[in-house]
Amino acid sequence: MFLELDGHGPHYSQLTRAMKSAILSGRLAAGARLPPTRVLAEDLGVSRITVLTAYEQLRAEGYIVGRVGSGSYVSTSQADPMPPRRTTPRSIAPLTRYAKRARQLADWSITAKHRDRRLDMQYGRPQVNPTLGAIWGRELAWAATHTKLDCTNIQGLPALREQICDYVARRRGIRTSPDQVLIVGGTQQAVALTSRVLLDEGDEVALEEPHYFSASQQFSAHGASLLAIPTDHEGLVCSALPKQAPRLVMVTPSHQFPAGPALSLSRRQELLSYARETGCWIMEDDYDNELRYDASALPALRSLDGDDRVIYVGTFSRVMFGALRLGYMVLPEALCGDFINAKYLCDRGSPAIEQAALAHFMEYGGFERHLRYVTRELGARRRELIAGLQQHAGDRVQIADSHAGMHVTAWLPNYDHAQVDALIADAHERGLGLYSIAPHYRKPPDVPGLALGYCGLSRAQLQEAMQLFGECLDAVDAAAAQPSAAARRRQA
Ligand SMILES: Cc1ncc(COP(=O)(O)O)c(C=O)c1O
Repeated sequence: MFLELDGHGPHYSQLTRAMKSAILSGRLAAGARLPPTRVLAEDLGVSRITVLTAYEQLRAEGYIVGRVGSGSYVSTSQADPMPPRRTTPRSIAPLTRYAKRARQLADWSITAKHRDRRLDMQYGRPQVNPTLGAIWGRELAWAATHTKLDCTNIQGLPALREQICDYVARRRGIRTSPDQVLIVGGTQQAVALTSRVLLDEGDEVALEEPHYFSASQQFSAHGASLLAIPTDHEGLVCSALPKQAPRLVMVTPSHQFPAGPALSLSRRQELLSYARETGCWIMEDDYDNELRYDASALPALRSLDGDDRVIYVGTFSRVMFGALRLGYMVLPEALCGDFINAKYLCDRGSPAIEQAALAHFMEYGGFERHLRYVTRELGARRRELIAGLQQHAGDRVQIADSHAGMHVTAWLPNYDHAQVDALIADAHERGLGLYSIAPHYRKPPDVPGLALGYCGLSRAQLQEAMQLFGECLDAVDAAAAQPSAAARRRQA
């Protein structure tokens, strides 16, 4: 018999309540025999006295009849069981404008739709360090015993904010103080808070075209109006920004997502001048700044920002693991108070133990060691992927090599979108998960492309994946070489 005890008060009263509810809802029908007290006690892992006391109580209230020894039965004089609760219909009209807009968004699982494939080339799956799980477990254990569990800090644990100041100064050239750092639940929460603080419904946000799918979804659900600004080999084409400035421009300067180029120095200066002259804000999504495979990385846009217009966002999702859900913002001074209010209203602060563990990991050098490992390993996987692409796809693909990040963008200039969709479907059948770049565009690009993630696969798997990729391309080429049915009919 399935009885769920609610955990409140002594066992016998929990059991009495659970049995009453089963009788009233009709799950225990009138006249049904109850299990012997010894059996029920064993089933539920409680003492027999507990069950006897509950049965006595139910008998006293008239829910059951019978005697100990001769069996107990649900009383037949019970009123009709409660009519089944009317459930809300499965589908109702959205109750708010937000819910309505969120329903209209494209299915967000499309960026993970080959998760079940043996060789999944999803581009955001970062866990490459096999020792990280064990190390992280130790850090959490340490943090659990060294964290005050009765207080939360809305802005984030001071120790972590200090580590982040040190980190962004060393690696990204950003000088800031812990007062301007806000710990958030990843970039996704940074975008959500930015929407709340900066945007009313209808306000404009300029996004790179292509851009980070999840960010544009967040802005759209919030009711912002999106402007897609083209990008080229130097990143955002700043001259295409409108004269009438949007409230916010969101960019990925160190590694344009997902196409690859870095925003050139002259474009950075152009963008900062635009913000200064028009009064708009800039959001710098520095999502994979840690992963550089050459020495030419530019410092963050925020480090050049003399006017305090850049909201800088970093995340640990990429370089640690996605489920950590920790990121950080370096905020313009004028916006700090509003962001802290928004964070308080949203969740009153990020989880303290994880923050303490991360601060400790950073302070004692574990994070830097992990970064060195990941960069070395991913650099090797990247080289393997590119070599495999060159060998098996040859000049059928154009590789946008940016010496950074966790994916390589491969353009397929000789194919149309339908052919690339067929290629992806065929690869899926053969166990290879390929992802089109198209969901990251407002309007599909002229040339189809793939974002090939290489961090979820070992070097040997990448070789195999590229061989399969070449075979799938051969199949598309062979299909294109076949005369169409109409042409065959004409020939006949
Ligand atoms: C462009 C971009 N920004 C940020 C992120 C990280 O988002 P989050 O910190 O919410 O996990 C990703 C992850 O895929 C990304 O591709």
